[in-house]
Amino acid sequence: MSVLLGPDQAEGLKRIVEQSQSRTRIITITSGKGGVGKSNFALNFAITLANLRDNNNNMYTPKRVVIMDADLGLANINVLIGLIPKANLYHVIKGQKKLQDIVTPTSYGIDLIAGASGLSQLANMDENDRINLIKGILDLNYADYLIIDTAAGVSTNVTQFAAIAHETIIITTPEPTSITDAYGVIKSISLDHGISNPNLKLVVNKSHSQAEAEKVASKIIAISQQFLNVQITPLGFIPDSPIIPSAVRKQIPFTILSPTSPPAQSMEQITRKILNVSPKEFQAESGWKKFLDYLIGEK
Ligand SMILES: Nc1ncnc2c1ncn2[C@@H]1O[C@H](COP(=O)(O)OP(=O)(O)O)[C@@H](O)[C@H]1O
Ligand SMILES: [Mg+2]
Repeated sequence: MSVLLGPDQAEGLKRIVEQSQSRTRIITITSGKGGVGKSNFALNFAITLANLRDNNNNMYTPKRVVIMDADLGLANINVLIGLIPKANLYHVIKGQKKLQDIVTPTSYGIDLIAGASGLSQLANMDENDRINLIKGILDLNYADYLIIDTAAGVSTNVTQFAAIAHETIIITTPEPTSITDAYGVIKSISLDHGISNPNLKLVVNKSHSQAEAEKVASKIIAISQQFLNVQITPLGFIPDSPIIPSAVRKQIPFTILSPTSPPAQSMEQITRKILNVSPKEFQAESGWKKFLDYLIGEK
């Protein structure tokens, strides 16, 4: 049984991030219940983020995106893309490798820090090991975005990555058990661990309609506000779709296998919401960037 992170430790981790000068925006993905689609979300969000285009189909400002598979019980991002990494977080935690040495490029414009299945060491790491891992993450300064896929549920693993994140995205499905477990993890992050002002966002996955997703989101937002005094920002929903299990079986991310499918379109809308850019602003910024590149002679 792992010892949960206390409020002081959570604040300590936050301070390390604030003092680190790291330019990387850290986004942690978590859920209360397992099997709600976290890993598929994290992977496809990372890919969408790295490859987002404006209305003229030009790449938006280049973004370096790294996805870290921190679900050490059931690590599987590498399986979702059919990649066999040479080394993974196990080697880092054991002190055999440095974090930057295990970053593996993928075919999808993102880099992967692979996890290790059946490993509970992360939860049992002492505070020094934990701080060293977090410092290693912050030293990965080349990344614009680091997306951390975590385990489900209430554990040190989850709260430490929520503590260091600039924002944490909670994934739920419309199932009542998933909703109550989402509330449990929100409570654990915001109350039990005393992470002050956690920047929490919500995605409803496997939804059968927009109305259903909105109902689920408002319920979670309302109870979090009422009982925990925590604001949660809704990001949108991803429909329940056979495209996702089919992409999993083919070991190709669904946004690549079927870029115009409803789940891929939802993924793009959610990504734009996270970046806070509408398609129009996108175009404007991209045009501005091109102009600047032209001025400094890059194009
Ligand atoms: N929107 C969706 N529609 C249908 N099936 C989905 C959807 N999202 C995920 N799945 C399926 O749910 C299962 C669990 O997904 P996964 O991303 O591994 O969840 P987690 O990381 O939360 O355990 C997978 O078999 C996947 O194909
Ligand atoms: Mg997973």
